[in-house]
Amino acid sequence: MNYTFPENFIWGVATAAQQIEGGMREGGRGLSNWDVFSHIPGTISGGGVPDVACDSYHLLDRDIAMMKELGVNSYRFSFSWPRIIPDGTGEVNPEGIAYYKKLLAGLKEAGITANATMFHWDLPYALQVKGGFGNRDMTGWFLNYAKVLLDNFGEDIEYWVTFNEPIATFVGNAKGFFAPGLCDEAYARQCCHNLLVCHGETVKLFRSRNYKNAKIGIVVDVWKHYPADPENPEDVAAAAAANETEGYGMYLHPLFLGGYSRYLNAYMKEQDVMPDIMSGDFETIRQKVDFYGMNFYNVLIDDSAKQRRLAAEQSEGGNYQNRPEYHTELLDKVLKEIVEEYGIDVPLFISENGLPQVGMTDREAILDDQERIDYLDKVLKTLHKAMQGGIDVRGYYLWSLMDNFEWSAGYEHRFGIYYTDFETLERIPKKSAAWYAGVIRHNGLPE
Ligand code: NOJ
Repeated sequence: MNYTFPENFIWGVATAAQQIEGGMREGGRGLSNWDVFSHIPGTISGGGVPDVACDSYHLLDRDIAMMKELGVNSYRFSFSWPRIIPDGTGEVNPEGIAYYKKLLAGLKEAGITANATMFHWDLPYALQVKGGFGNRDMTGWFLNYAKVLLDNFGEDIEYWVTFNEPIATFVGNAKGFFAPGLCDEAYARQCCHNLLVCHGETVKLFRSRNYKNAKIGIVVDVWKHYPADPENPEDVAAAAAANETEGYGMYLHPLFLGGYSRYLNAYMKEQDVMPDIMSGDFETIRQKVDFYGMNFYNVLIDDSAKQRRLAAEQSEGGNYQNRPEYHTELLDKVLKEIVEEYGIDVPLFISENGLPQVGMTDREAILDDQERIDYLDKVLKTLHKAMQGGIDVRGYYLWSLMDNFEWSAGYEHRFGIYYTDFETLERIPKKSAAWYAGVIRHNGLPE
């Protein structure tokens, strides 16, 4: 089988500001919701905080050199809102602008295009205090931020992403284990709704600029759930609920079809968690985007009997299996179904894909990441198959360039193809770095 990808296929790596930059109190940066949240004892496993992270605020050149070593032709990164506008609104921070100008100049020199996300979870804390996304004024605050970004970097970015994984804002407001740490589902639904309006308003602003080369889209992660037994109503109900009320359906439906799905509407009414919706919101949200970025990690099979058994074993302190099962061979099916279900008629990207090394401490073992190579190899083969079947995927971004601050998992989940020594900040290529460089060189998987 020949796994060559189309000419001009984009091979990239992805990171996000809060996870790699550090420099928390440097260069005029304001605090983010995650800076504050992560300093509350007990929020982050192992107690890791993102104050320094990979120190990309100072080590940009090293990051770019790594990308050159890999041979990637695109870099997906995010702007830090509190670095650009420390208080969320008002004064723009010239040092913040200068930092990203430097990054873009370095990328340009290396022949690497930019794929930049406006919001990858790090909200200025000053706005969190005012209610964050739950406050409808957010639409104005966000639009102002987007305007500053476009004024400064508009045509220098080939792919603009408004939001990365909006589900994180839901999790942070409904489940409590992401910033800001609230457990209020009704509030979280309002946050999600306002966030989608911010997206739509930003796309409108972007269109008014008539850029020649820059494009705009959004990234929604898809962890599709399937019932283990399609005849078992319990499995079927579990999968539908996961996809529609706490998954991709919450976003893809309003973005591509307009309005919330019948399922989600019924659920929100029943649970009394319906957000306030203003007239015109759904038209605003459903702007035509230039591309859709799908973050893909895994597919989940809902097997109620098995879940009950595991829960029982766990509560008895038994030897339950907590390693996830991977069903990446279903990516092909997932892509086809998502494109069909939501009538997605724009090009797609796999905007993130990767595998964590969990709780490992031995450096040599971490560097020898054959398991990651096997996982990535499988995903790329299935992706290739989907593309052969007609799905228009233009690029693939590996998460992540280097081990970094993995949100609530702190530094205990290592997703990098470069190892980060969080003491010395040294970066060392793992086995997968050479493997990925080979994939890029071959424009696909070697036979
Ligand atoms: C999703 C997020 O966008 C990214 O920030 C995170 O680190 C990876 N997936 C891995 O969990």
